[in-house]
Amino acid sequence: MGGRTPGQDRHAYPDRTFSKGLSGSCPALGRACQALRDMFGRAPRFAAVAPGRVNLMGDHTDYVGGLVLPMAIDRWCAAVGAAGTRRGRMRVAAADLGQTLELRTTPPMSPGTLPAGHWGAYVAGIVARFQSRRAVLPPLDVAVATDVPIGAGLASSAAMEVALAVLLEQACALPLDPIERARLCQQAEWEFAGVPCGIMDQLTAALGRAGHALLIDCARLAVEFVPLPDPGQAVVVVGDSGVRRSLAEGEYARRRRACEAAARALGGCLHAITEAQVQAAGLPPVQRDAARHVIGENARVRAGADALRAGDVARFGSLMFESHASLCDLMGVSCDALDRLVAAARQVAGVWGARLTGAGFGGCIVALVHPDALPGLVRDLQAGGCVGVYAVRAVEGATAVHPCSMTT
Ligand code: GLA
Repeated sequence: MGGRTPGQDRHAYPDRTFSKGLSGSCPALGRACQALRDMFGRAPRFAAVAPGRVNLMGDHTDYVGGLVLPMAIDRWCAAVGAAGTRRGRMRVAAADLGQTLELRTTPPMSPGTLPAGHWGAYVAGIVARFQSRRAVLPPLDVAVATDVPIGAGLASSAAMEVALAVLLEQACALPLDPIERARLCQQAEWEFAGVPCGIMDQLTAALGRAGHALLIDCARLAVEFVPLPDPGQAVVVVGDSGVRRSLAEGEYARRRRACEAAARALGGCLHAITEAQVQAAGLPPVQRDAARHVIGENARVRAGADALRAGDVARFGSLMFESHASLCDLMGVSCDALDRLVAAARQVAGVWGARLTGAGFGGCIVALVHPDALPGLVRDLQAGGCVGVYAVRAVEGATAVHPCSMTT
């Protein structure tokens, strides 16, 4: 894919294009274009892709202004569009589901138009957020497709939201700053998908950088790029447990409420709080443990970023195991399948570290592994019940794609 060139304005369209070879590496883009043709008889006029993410360190911290260390991965959601024919209407196709729907875009869309779990709710949410910015939405036909596994803790929703946002920015001639874009997408998810998520996933999809993790301070929305190890030294591997649980189901929101209540009880923010202060505060156990997790996890993110900068993969790996233990014991967001996979990874010589990634309750683990140990890790994770194991690389964030660069 096309890298960023120095001084290039990330918001100018359509300069940031993928190379001709993109459709080879982003199959979703080809499927989305095909669906636009097959279902609506249209050739793409606008297109955008946004990556999923894997979080290397710092989970259940973003929604209380903590630190996270994710990377954007080489699995994308693609959204393509062309002028529609009916005013006040947007037709949308979900290529991978073979489904279409028609949204009425006037009057402006409001939550509840579609059930929170429906894929169309994400589209409606993004449209509504553009409308709240007084965007003039032309009649549009849109198709989406994704190579980010859905519901696997790899931020498939954020990838879709951000890809749609970049598409609508083109269609409405309303370019957004990547941070503004991420916030718009987060609001859409809150309002239309009913998930009180933090900002990590949307920011990573918007701002990813090839070869780097993003050290994000979620209170200040400040991002630092931290170089990842050379793939000859260590590879990032994702192992999918196959267990799926929707974040709208309530466990995620409960964890968020516990962290927020603990933060309020401790003076509003967990940044400068110590373990000893938490122990002394006499909080209910759930809040106390949530606070202890956030404090420890923030420290691990800082230490992890330092370890990466120093090229100390062994140190980073041991922090990953500690992080998993904290997510399991203090936050209670792991499950047997994830614990089994982390334990299996730990037994493989050449695995530096492993932990659950994302919200938990199922989904994926992430491991850092010497490339020579990859075959053994794949074998043992599969034996441990993994439904998919793959190495991922860190890629650039969302981008518009020029229709001429689409080869399908
Ligand atoms: C989900 C949310 C994120 C974050 C993680 C847990 O992915 O979308 O905002 O809270 O869970 O770290």
